[in-house]
Amino acid sequence: MITLHVELAARRYPIYIGSGLLARMPAWPEELTRAKRAAVVSNAVVAPLYLARLTQALLAQGMAATAVILPDGEAHKDWASLSAIYDHLLTQRCDRTTPIVALGGGVVGDLAGFAAATYQRGVPFVQVPTTLLAMVDSSVGGKTGINHALGKNMIGAFWQPRMVIIDTDTLTTLPDRELSAGLAEVIKYGLIRDAAFFAWLEGNIEALLARDAAALAYAIERSCRNKAEVVAADELETAKEGGRALLNLGHTFGHAIETGLGYGEWLHGEAVAAGIVMAAELSRRLGWLTEIEVARIRRVLERARLPTSGPPLGAARYLELMGRDKKVLAGRLRLVLLRAIGEAVTWAEAPMEEIARAIESCSG
Ligand code: NAD
Ligand code: GLY
Repeated sequence: MITLHVELAARRYPIYIGSGLLARMPAWPEELTRAKRAAVVSNAVVAPLYLARLTQALLAQGMAATAVILPDGEAHKDWASLSAIYDHLLTQRCDRTTPIVALGGGVVGDLAGFAAATYQRGVPFVQVPTTLLAMVDSSVGGKTGINHALGKNMIGAFWQPRMVIIDTDTLTTLPDRELSAGLAEVIKYGLIRDAAFFAWLEGNIEALLARDAAALAYAIERSCRNKAEVVAADELETAKEGGRALLNLGHTFGHAIETGLGYGEWLHGEAVAAGIVMAAELSRRLGWLTEIEVARIRRVLERARLPTSGPPLGAARYLELMGRDKKVLAGRLRLVLLRAIGEAVTWAEAPMEEIARAIESCSG
C-alpha cells in the first residue's frame, strides 16, 4: 500500500492506494468510528459489485453500514439524488458523527460529498473511488456538487474527505470506455505540470489500456501526487493566476459539450479530451505550442481511445455555454492554456475570434 497525504492549511488527510484495500483496509481514526455506523452512498451498478465487501470492511472497524443506492449515471447528478440521500440519512436517524462514505465513481463521490457538506451543516466524509477518473481526480481535493440544466457542477461546496481509500482491484470490472475516460484526466496532469509523466504516458498508454497492474498503480500514484500538490497550494481555487484552476485544462470546452449535448451523452473524460485538444489548438494559435506538440497531444489521446474533436454544436453555441463557466470573471472568459507540454497558464486575453476558430477546427 502507498500512502500519500493532502496537506491543507487546517489539517492533512491520507490517500491510501493499493490492491485489495477493500478487504485489508487501514484502521479508521476514532473520530470516524465513534458513531459505530456509516452511511454508504453508492449506485445500482457499483453496489452489487462492492457494497458487501465494503460492509465487511466496516464491520471489521466496528461499524455497521446503512446504504443508499442511487440510480446510475451523470444524468442523476441532480437534486433528486441529493434529496434521496437526505431522506435516507434522516429516516435512518444519522447524526453529525455518522460518516458518509462514497462508494463509486465521480458522480457518486460528488453527490455524497455535497450531502456530507450540507447534512446537519456538515458530517465527516470518506471517499472510496471505483473508477480511474475518481481515483486520480474527483475523490481528492474536496470539490463536491451537482449539475444544473444550465450548467455543469453549478451547485456545490468545498468539503474535503477525511480519507481516500483506493482499491485498485476495483478497476478490473470497469468498462473499457470508462477506463479511457479516466485516462483523459491522467494525461491532463502530464500536460499541465509534469512533462516527464507525459513522456512516460506516451510510452505506456497501451499497458494502461491492457490494465497492467503496475502501470495503473504508478499512473494513479503520480496523478494523486500532482493533484495533492496543487490542492495544497490553492485549496479553494482563489489564486489570481494559475493555481488550482489549472486542473481544469480542457474543462471549459468539455463542460460546454456535456451541457450542450445533455448530461451522460458523452462521458466527462471524453468531453475533457476533446476540450484538451481545443485548448492545445488555441495555444498553438497564440504562438505557444508548436504543431508537433499539438500532434503529440492528439496522438496520445487517440491512442487512449478518446475523442480528439468535439461534436458540431457550432462555435456560437460553444461560446454561449462556455460563458457560464465558473472561471468567467468580470465577464471575461478565463481559459487554461498551454505554454508548453508540462506548463499551463490561466489566460483571459485570448481573442474571441481565435477561440471560435480553435473550436471550429476541432469540432464537427
Ligand atoms: P461515473 O461516476 O458516472 O462512473 C462511470 C460509470 O462506471 C458509471 O456507470 C458507474 O456506475 C460505473 N462504475 C463505477 N465504478 C465501477 C467499477 N469498479 N466497475 C464497474 N462499473 C463501475 O463517472 P466518473 O467518470 O467516475 O466521474 C465523472 C464525474 O466526476 C463527473 O460528474 C465530473 O463532473 C466529476 N468530476 C469531479 C471532480 C471533482 O474534483 N470533484 C473532478 C473530475 C470529475
Ligand atoms: N477537478 C478539478 C479540481 O479538483 O479542481
